[in-house]
Amino acid sequence: MPKAILCNSNEGLSSLRLETISSPQVKADEVRIAVRYAGVNFPDTLIIQGKYQFQPEYPFSPGQEVSGEVLEVGNDVTHVKEGDFVLASMTWGGYAEETVAHKDNTYLLPPVVSFEQGAALLETYGTAIHALKDRGSLTAGETLVVLGASGGTGSAAVQLGKVMGAKVVAVCSTAAKREAVLSNGADAAIGYDDLKNQLKQFKVDVIFDPVGGDASEQAFRALRPNGRHLVVGFASGKIPTIPFNLPLLKSASVVGVFWGSFWRTNPLANRSNINMVLKWLAQKEIDVAISQTMDLKEAKHALEILMTREAIGKTVLKVR
Ligand SMILES: NC(=O)c1ccc[n+]([C@@H]2O[C@H](COP(=O)([O-])OP(=O)(O)OC[C@H]3O[C@@H](n4cnc5c(N)ncnc54)[C@H](OP(=O)(O)O)[C@@H]3O)[C@@H](O)[C@H]2O)c1
Repeated sequence: MPKAILCNSNEGLSSLRLETISSPQVKADEVRIAVRYAGVNFPDTLIIQGKYQFQPEYPFSPGQEVSGEVLEVGNDVTHVKEGDFVLASMTWGGYAEETVAHKDNTYLLPPVVSFEQGAALLETYGTAIHALKDRGSLTAGETLVVLGASGGTGSAAVQLGKVMGAKVVAVCSTAAKREAVLSNGADAAIGYDDLKNQLKQFKVDVIFDPVGGDASEQAFRALRPNGRHLVVGFASGKIPTIPFNLPLLKSASVVGVFWGSFWRTNPLANRSNINMVLKWLAQKEIDVAISQTMDLKEAKHALEILMTREAIGKTVLKVR
């Protein structure tokens, strides 16, 4: 019987246990996967506290992305088959030796991409490329500011911003995180103090904002005319409220980003984005760096360091 980390209530980390599960059933449009690695993402910390926009019935396994081997495919699945190595994203269920993923968010793992990297890129790079390209229309020569730049989506946005030809200014809270983002390719790294005035010297076109809280309005106030503030998430735990006169006065836009909705409603456009990320990775124009690999049974610790703001970069769990 496969093992999985199961969440039994909305009490967060204390609700997690390593238990055995039955093999999940595949529907016609799904793929069943023997998981090798699972990526750890901020939404996993929310879903185990009952604070995410989707709430599965208990018990469930958290985890939004995996890499592994296909065990079985549903009748409507034609692009992968039993025995193929794949990467896939789901809303929950990834911290498990077996999981199912929708066919539209399952991809063949290119030979140059490791299983560890494969489990670490869909959620963050999928979100970041959708944000910068489809929602932000970032163009070469523009200046991109990335808040929470050492985190999962932030690190991806820094790398993709560089590949897309932008000047990238990274914002993060500690000297160690600023050092990490400069090694990740950012052109400049600053802290959150006096953010509006610090940013004004950079002539900001696009803001990638997975943090929220007080930093959001400060950053928005530094935008140039025609600037775009991409609302990605609220890792600070605080949803900012920006006065509606600000977009008017700045001739700037607040633009929502929801990758989970995008891949479901535009599967072909999303697949083309992911293929572009995989091509850049194969050409070594980006590098999906894993900062920590832990065992499945250490999932609690992996989530804890995200929740306490200690994580730098991406953590994956070795599942089998
Ligand atoms: N819109 C979408 O489609 C989409 C997709 C994926 C994720 N998200 C959301 O985006 C947000 C960030 O995800 P992520 O994967 O980038 O998370 P992450 O890896 O944990 O990074 C978030 C960053 O936010 C900053 N932060 C500020 N206050 C924090 C706090 N109280 N606790 C934790 N971090 C804090 C931290 O950097 P500093 O210490 O430098 O500030 C941290 O590195 C989450 O809200 C997630 O749900 C949205």
